[in-house]
Amino acid sequence: MSTALITGASRGLGRALAAGLARAGFDLVIDARDAAALDAAAGALRASGGPGAPRPGSSVTAVPGDVTDPAHRAALVAACAGRLDLLVNNAGTLGASPLPALADYPADELRAAFEANVIAPIALTQLALPLLRASGGAVLNITSDAAVEAYAGWGGYGAAKAALEQASNVLAAEELGVRVWWADPGDLRTDMHQLAFPGEDISDRPEPASVVPAFVRLVTERLPSGRYRAAHLAPVTS
Ligand SMILES: NC(=O)c1ccc[n+]([C@@H]2O[C@H](COP(=O)([O-])OP(=O)(O)OC[C@H]3O[C@@H](n4cnc5c(N)ncnc54)[C@H](OP(=O)(O)O)[C@@H]3O)[C@@H](O)[C@H]2O)c1
Repeated sequence: MSTALITGASRGLGRALAAGLARAGFDLVIDARDAAALDAAAGALRASGGPGAPRPGSSVTAVPGDVTDPAHRAALVAACAGRLDLLVNNAGTLGASPLPALADYPADELRAAFEANVIAPIALTQLALPLLRASGGAVLNITSDAAVEAYAGWGGYGAAKAALEQASNVLAAEELGVRVWWADPGDLRTDMHQLAFPGEDISDRPEPASVVPAFVRLVTERLPSGRYRAAHLAPVTS
């Protein structure tokens, strides 16, 4: 049985990915800061009889905490119990909301965005690498089009995601036995997306579950290391 560690899996994209990877046969280790929400998500994953149900025999381990906390990152890797095949660095923050122009971006908010979106995933990857090297595993870093497009207001979040992308790029060049993917899911109907568009109706954005088949394809077909967009990764059905 393979093990996937997915950060930020209590809701949104991380929760949908957890369901998809459980269905693909992975044991899961998941986290989020809100312990009650994380427990509810883990319970739903275990109990679900629907299409997101884990395969019989697979397990879901919930480890509440903040990925910016070094002790929590160590606890996450310890919960993998010596086996890790896939690390999904999904947890992240939008930063300040409403999105400020860079001219007005508070430095402490900027620092917090880089801590959660760049430092934490790199530091967690460092801890996970011995297990990933041993399994010939993979790292999936969740990025955004804001890393490569110049959207007014998205400078803090976008700069952090751009840094995560280049760290992924270099990691792929350094760790030839480990797959490293950095993937843009596209706009999704989640709490983070609502924060980016406060008060706006975002019901036209797709549900997170819509991109899960694309990400599962990345993992199960073990596509080459590199940058991907979910929209370009539709599963091949024939
Ligand atoms: N939604 C979009 O349109 C979109 C587009 C492109 C990229 N993305 C990326 O997709 C990923 C998931 O975003 P989402 O839209 O699904 O966000 P979301 O709905 O806000 O969910 C974020 C998840 O991460 C957890 N989390 C946040 N900060 C954390 C921390 N410091 N430590 C541990 N867990 C933390 C949250 O739980 P707690 O709050 O309880 O910790 C929650 O489970 C992010 O990397 C985001 O940048 C999203």
